Amino acid sequence: MADNAPTPSRLIDAKRSAKNKNSVIRTKGVLGSDFLSRLTGSFSTGAASNPTVWMIEAAYRFHKLDWRYINCEVNPENLKFAVHGAKAMGWIGFNCSMPHKIKVIDFLDDLSDSARIIGAVNTVVISGSRLLGENTDGKGFLKSLDAVRPVKGAKALIFGAGGAARAVAIEIALAGCKELHVVNRDPGRGERLAELVSSCTSTKTCFSPWLGRFQIPDDIDIVINCTSIGLPPRVDVDFQVDTSTLLPRMTVADVIANPANTKFLQSARDRGCTVLDGRGMLVNQACIAFKLWTGHEPNSEVFKAALAEIAL
Ligand SMILES: NC(=O)c1ccc[n+]([C@@H]2O[C@H](COP(=O)([O-])OP(=O)(O)OC[C@H]3O[C@@H](n4cnc5c(N)ncnc54)[C@H](OP(=O)(O)O)[C@@H]3O)[C@@H](O)[C@H]2O)c1
Repeated sequence: MADNAPTPSRLIDAKRSAKNKNSVIRTKGVLGSDFLSRLTGSFSTGAASNPTVWMIEAAYRFHKLDWRYINCEVNPENLKFAVHGAKAMGWIGFNCSMPHKIKVIDFLDDLSDSARIIGAVNTVVISGSRLLGENTDGKGFLKSLDAVRPVKGAKALIFGAGGAARAVAIEIALAGCKELHVVNRDPGRGERLAELVSSCTSTKTCFSPWLGRFQIPDDIDIVINCTSIGLPPRVDVDFQVDTSTLLPRMTVADVIANPANTKFLQSARDRGCTVLDGRGMLVNQACIAFKLWTGHEPNSEVFKAALAEIAL
């Protein structure tokens, strides 16, 4: 038989290649002998609105890796079984999103230093029989902030004291933020975050309860919304800040990725501030997880293009 004779395998291969020129993954099982993909994924409640699967699968295809990312709806009572299941099935790792970022720690063997301080995990790496928890939220935010302005020596103000705020506060403090002002509606939670940052880092911290329209002190360099205001269904919640205190020299960031242009960011843009939306954080935390699992440095443009495809 001629080398290029149209065998059934080659015909299937040609058809699949025509469908997706970049894909070697889809043809590997036909021509090769390895039918076992590497598995990763995500466990959350409300998984249907989580776009991470779209970015990471696009990156696996782009980098020609026979890997999969499976977005799973997991209720709190089933988290333990999902984690044990992933381990039993030889998964390489998984993300945890709301509401599992704290509870998942009960099922892990070890934590990275920052995940231990933050007290929450969004990425797990399974290595042999051991599960290591990492938190990439704050690192992802820091990388996108770094592209706009340095945090070292800066004075920052964070609205919020939940999981995202803890991750961002710890990472910017570890990166050399000089002073951090925490503002939160629940004073107990806010005070605990300010105490955590000052006990674990050399950043000078203070806390203010969020009462009425907050006035940003004029020596602040970076203002960050780490609350869930701006995320549906809280899109129209009034962000209680005196926008006249947002100065053009300030960098104003929001962790909300969808919609990216929150009302708060729009007010800051209108005031002439440099603004940073939550998409960079979303892309970067996914890139960090990709590297932790695969060992490959991903092309972040692929992640951004995947988000743009779904109009994010
Ligand atoms: N872009 C990304 O990659 C990325 C990554 C992680 C998270 N996020 C986003 O970050 C947001 C926060 O997540 P999280 O895990 O920190 O949630 P969380 O733990 O539930 O914390 C929510 C925070 O928002 C505050 N808040 C909510 N509604 C408020 C209101 N009406 N007025 C004032 N404060 C209000 C809460 O204040 P109290 O303490 O007073 O209740 C708390 O500080 C989410 O919307 C998520 O989408 C984005």
